[in-house]
Amino acid sequence: MYSIIHKCVENVVVGVESTAHTLSFGLVEMNGTAHPSKSSLFRPEEGGIHPREAADHHSEVAAGLLSSLVNEYKLNSKNISAIAFSQGPGLGPCLRVGATVARAMSIDWQVPLVGVNHCVAHIEIGRSQTGCIDPVLLYVSGGNTQVIARAGDRYQVIGETLDIGIGNMLDKFARMQGIPFPGGPKIESLAKEWKENHPNANLEEISLPYSVQGMDLNFSGILNAAQTRINEGHDLGAVCWSVQEHAFAACVEVAERALAHTGKKELLLGGGVACNERLRQMSHVMCEERECKAFWPEKKFCVDNGTMIAELGRRMIQSELSTEINNSSINPSLRTDHTTIIWD
Ligand code: ATP
Ligand code: FE2
Repeated sequence: MYSIIHKCVENVVVGVESTAHTLSFGLVEMNGTAHPSKSSLFRPEEGGIHPREAADHHSEVAAGLLSSLVNEYKLNSKNISAIAFSQGPGLGPCLRVGATVARAMSIDWQVPLVGVNHCVAHIEIGRSQTGCIDPVLLYVSGGNTQVIARAGDRYQVIGETLDIGIGNMLDKFARMQGIPFPGGPKIESLAKEWKENHPNANLEEISLPYSVQGMDLNFSGILNAAQTRINEGHDLGAVCWSVQEHAFAACVEVAERALAHTGKKELLLGGGVACNERLRQMSHVMCEERECKAFWPEKKFCVDNGTMIAELGRRMIQSELSTEINNSSINPSLRTDHTTIIWD
């Protein structure tokens, strides 16, 4: 028989993440120590993510995940300082589940509630985990692809996708080949295997549109052309490799221009696609060439997770910001630059 090891924590912020496919609870101590989240990913049996089905999944797993966090860390009204939750952006029905759970926790434990911006949370967990200070952020996830830099009291978006997010493109391309959600990791492994077996491969025969327009990006052209390459009979591994090379090169090019324009010396990767080793490698090489430094947090802090929500909640609470229950409505269309940043 094994006994459960309880971890002793003091003064923690609990974070609730529910913007899309993942329901997750995480915690960060007021001194900045971050703990791994308890998460459950909704995987549709077929097709894309239906917001209502994802919300049903979140409602079903919420109690179990939360009790496991509470038991492991012996959480109670004395050691919890605040409850943070994703207020937006995201899918309405999913956001509502997380907000409802967070409000109930705040009332039950009689601790402040703090609604946070999910995109800013990806930035803050990256800064606190890697130690970078004032980076250009390449935020690459399913729903978002943005190049961001802080200017005064905002994280300003200086370039972004004009159509779908890069992760969404990867997931859709994967789904068209019968690969279930999330498709990004499988595309990464197919591309890697193919390149290892074809070290002299070149992109000419499997070229795809290059998706940079000034500081902005787009990915539906790559998606359509990649399917055309499959229909022409090219190997799936070869097309996955080409998709990654084109889409990542475009992101890294815009990130490089952002470093040049802002004069900043750090690049931080965030969002689920930042788990990708090839993107990390391309970012590292670009930064070395410019005498800058590339950073990325561990994979568990790149994908959606409750700990990142707790981390932003901690910074807000320490800046004396909290959210009254009657101001805690969700905001599905919140943008990165809508949130005022008053901390360092
Ligand atoms: P956001 O609301 O910030 O847009 P999200 O809902 O897309 O976030 P994330 O967990 O940040 O959620 O990102 C999920 C995306 O990351 C999916 O599109 C998934 O395919 C992609 N992804 C995860 N791992 C990898 C990988 N190794 N390579 C490429 N893409 C990946
Ligand atoms: Fe996210």
